[in-house]
Amino acid sequence: MYDWVVLWEAVELAVRWLHVITAIAWIGSSFYFVALDLGLHRDRALATGADGEEWQVHGGGFYHIQKYLVAPASMPDGLVWFKWESYATWLSGFAMLVLVYYLGADLYLVDPTVADLAVWQAVAISLASLAFGWLAYNTLCRVFVNANQTALMVALFGVLVGMAWFYTHVFSGRAALLHLGAFTATIMSANVFMVIIPNQKIVVADLIAGRAPDPKYGKIAKQRSTHNNYLTLPVVFLMLSNHYPLIFATQYNWLIACLVFLMGVTIRHWFNSRHARKGSPTWTWAATAILFLLVAWLSTTAMRHRPETDGAMNTTALRYASATGFDDVVGIVQGRCSMCHAAEPGWDGIHWPPKNVVLETPAQIAAEAPRIYLQAGLSHAMPPANVSFMEPAERAAIARWFETASASAPGI
Ligand code: HEC
Repeated sequence: MYDWVVLWEAVELAVRWLHVITAIAWIGSSFYFVALDLGLHRDRALATGADGEEWQVHGGGFYHIQKYLVAPASMPDGLVWFKWESYATWLSGFAMLVLVYYLGADLYLVDPTVADLAVWQAVAISLASLAFGWLAYNTLCRVFVNANQTALMVALFGVLVGMAWFYTHVFSGRAALLHLGAFTATIMSANVFMVIIPNQKIVVADLIAGRAPDPKYGKIAKQRSTHNNYLTLPVVFLMLSNHYPLIFATQYNWLIACLVFLMGVTIRHWFNSRHARKGSPTWTWAATAILFLLVAWLSTTAMRHRPETDGAMNTTALRYASATGFDDVVGIVQGRCSMCHAAEPGWDGIHWPPKNVVLETPAQIAAEAPRIYLQAGLSHAMPPANVSFMEPAERAAIARWFETASASAPGI
């Protein structure tokens, strides 16, 4: 059945939507609490014994918030926890990873010009790397819990540089940057799941039992949530990077990814300083601009080209290439699409293959079959504004070819 392509699009859209929504909820609440914590007035001796307070106005009401160190004297009723924002973001993000990169590994995860991996090998590397990330990070944090925290962050940056290099040498550029984002986001979510919430639970249990909670739990949780604060913006950048072939599909993609982590620090430092009423360190914007220009400059270095060999088709591509109507489709695509979708496009104003989709050789066309079907067979998304005057009969030929090839596939 070919209907799976359409069904797949719907499932992917639903999960992507969910993922963006949960991420907004998580990032929103975590930025809110970081800003609140930094901005608390701690110089007002509060009758309740709280450490600090702040008044806020929002949505038609005034809020009076007080923070207790380490905890209030007794357990309050109806305590609200913030954890599902994080868990749901990780779970939906992992679902996206499976949907796009594991099930679409031929197209998106494995690039034989980078490393000629079997799909199962690539998936195993992906899973193992995420687990490794948490183990390495958690060990470093535990060993250096009482050390200089800036030195610890430099060490963690070293781990990220190593991973950026590693990922770009085993996966396609697109998957590499996405994985670096997933690696970092897994650490952030695990911080909530494995450290911050469990420590909070110990404190709550102490309160219920009438014991004075140990302040070390709060201190550890604070260390982890500070890391999360600096890692948030780079993760969002890396998740969006797959829309920008110049970022992910060029020679220095790993270096670009490293610079992005530095921008995460320079941008957050400005906001954190402001929220803590420690002035406006405007130099951070200059630093951010320089880093961003460096990223833009590095992205103009040579694109990694896909191989033009006609021999390198995997079994899925071979099925499309051997289906009835393929020769006609090659002619149509070469006539209507490859002026833009070429290693060196001939269309005015297009300087690199859009979205890194190259449609010049039969092998490349077979490899992109489902996307060609979606963009030009089922829908009229391509060519943009039908600039190359595609005929309805040509779209029908693409659809017929794809559906015939898919009908011969083991169904889903
Ligand atoms: C005038 C230049 C031009 C022509 C001709 C053209 N494309 Fe595109 N194509 C683009 C651009 C630009 C994008 C990126 C759109 C975006 O950024 O969302 C793109 C994106 C794509 C994508 C990736 C979509 C995605 O979001 O994953 C596919 C697949 C694609 N085109 C297929 C085709 C096919 C098939 C044809 C011929 C029937 C075609 N294109 C003709 C310019 C062109």
